[in-house]
Amino acid sequence: MTKAEFCFGNILFGTFGLVLTTCGVALMWEYMEDWAGGIEGGFDNPGSSEYGNFHVLFMLFAFFLPFAIGAASFRLFTFVDRSIAKIFHAVFNTIGLGGAIAGFYIEYDTIEINGYDHFNSAHTYMGLLTLALYLFQWISGLVLFAICIPFKGTVMSAIKKGWLPIHRLIGQALFLFLSVTIVLGMMMKFVYTGFMADPDQFRLSNIVMSYFVVGVCTYGTYLITGIFQRKEKSQASTASSAAYVETNDAFSPDTTVKI
Ligand code: HEM
Repeated sequence: MTKAEFCFGNILFGTFGLVLTTCGVALMWEYMEDWAGGIEGGFDNPGSSEYGNFHVLFMLFAFFLPFAIGAASFRLFTFVDRSIAKIFHAVFNTIGLGGAIAGFYIEYDTIEINGYDHFNSAHTYMGLLTLALYLFQWISGLVLFAICIPFKGTVMSAIKKGWLPIHRLIGQALFLFLSVTIVLGMMMKFVYTGFMADPDQFRLSNIVMSYFVVGVCTYGTYLITGIFQRKEKSQASTASSAAYVETNDAFSPDTTVKI
């Protein structure tokens, strides 16, 4: 397979996964609007379920989706220079961090206003772990990739190179954690809105979750298979592949070599 064919297939597969995932997220939101009260008047009535639904809105559209796109910036935005793809990566992840903080604040506030207990379910434990890891990832990314730019070619640069595989691994784990947290959160919402008593809602919830699960499995495979591509390339370390590595395109799925 030629490099161009490989990259085209890779982008096609990733785009397919992202489209399916986005359909799943859109269906979840449709459910929130039609069955769980939506967000109308939420900010006028803090503590209401409409106010709490902003947690879902922020987590899905301002955290999960920007994170999912940002995670694959170097492979999706092959039409721009690698340095621009790096800016996309930082911008999408910064939007994601803002969305995560806003989503967390809203739910914490809702629980506080209603006098419920904090952190008492699988979703809330998983959510907390995800948020802590994401914050760590964002801060370490900022420190190592942005602040160290002037130190190119020094010890800092070696640390950066060494950290990159860990950064990727944490990013891949985060995608998994986020997907599981979302599934757990939706399951909780289905229970809260009473799907057990309503067969129509039960069928609907299955369809909603199927789209999302198939989407994140596809997109997750796309993100995680980067590991296998990388191994293949380092094994076949020929003069021509070395030349390929040195290009400054965002084209390469191998993000370990150029930082
Ligand atoms: C990946 C994104 C998400 C993260 C990181 C996350 C995180 C959290 C955290 C940390 C809490 C606990 C707040 C507290 O106890 O003070 C929470 C609560 C909650 N979340 Fe999420 N969440 C996410 C997505 C969702 C989604 C998609 C739903 C779907 C409806 C959802 C529904 C809920 C509900 C209903 C609660 C309240 C739990 C309770 O009453 O015990 N979350 N979330």
